Amino acid sequence: MNKLIEPSRILMVRQSLEGFPVLPVPEGFALRWYEPGFEEHWLSIHLAAEKEIPITPELFTRRFGSDPAVLAARQCYLFSPDGIPVGTVTGWLDPEFEGAPHGRVHFLAVAPAWQGKGLAKVLMSSILQRLKKLGPPRAYLATSSNRLRAIRLYLNFGFTPLAKTGEAQALWQEILRAIELGPHKSVPSPLPFPAGGAA
Ligand SMILES: CC(C)(COP(=O)(O)OP(=O)(O)OC[C@H]1O[C@@H](n2cnc3c(N)ncnc32)[C@H](O)[C@@H]1OP(=O)(O)O)[C@@H](O)C(=O)NCCC(=O)NCCS
Repeated sequence: MNKLIEPSRILMVRQSLEGFPVLPVPEGFALRWYEPGFEEHWLSIHLAAEKEIPITPELFTRRFGSDPAVLAARQCYLFSPDGIPVGTVTGWLDPEFEGAPHGRVHFLAVAPAWQGKGLAKVLMSSILQRLKKLGPPRAYLATSSNRLRAIRLYLNFGFTPLAKTGEAQALWQEILRAIELGPHKSVPSPLPFPAGGAA
């Protein structure tokens, strides 16, 4: 079975929360953290961007709870110059991932009309800065094997495959080969990054 067509859950880890790219918010855009009511923005962005899993208000509550203070610390949004919410990502905390505390990059999405403009990189940079402040020494994320754009982005941000079984390693070889053969031609090296500095 082709796992890139039949998606499998895959994991990536970043062994430290140092040295990631610090990118500026593009001129005219605004980065804002969760405020009550932003659930609507989360839903509209994910409903537009997400093709694989059902996006519902219940999913938001199931994954993130409903404590506004927690969400304000961990969930950010990018607004376009016209004030449209166009992207979001959440930084979760997992005290017991692989037996140790990790930050988790969770539910990254950019609305299709705004993709390909570098906005996901800005969201990744922002959420890693926030996770670093929140204190876990490392970060991880889960995604699926067919999300090659996202995987390429994560590789670029210094996340590496967590593949503990032969099956997972074989799948990762397939993924990396697919990324190599894709429009960007080669797997990017994690650093340096085009703009801004490094944390
Ligand atoms: C993945 C996603 C967040 C990327 O958002 P984006 O704003 O378009 O991404 P950016 O423009 O910041 O590009 C970031 C990187 O993504 C990758 N990427 C973006 N578009 C790509 C494309 N058409 N082909 C290959 N890689 C691509 C590249 O690595 C790119 O960096 P580069 O241009 O320096 O090579 C967006 O496509 C999305 O929301 N997808 C649906 C939801 C999803 O899959 N989320 C991830 C869940 S784990």
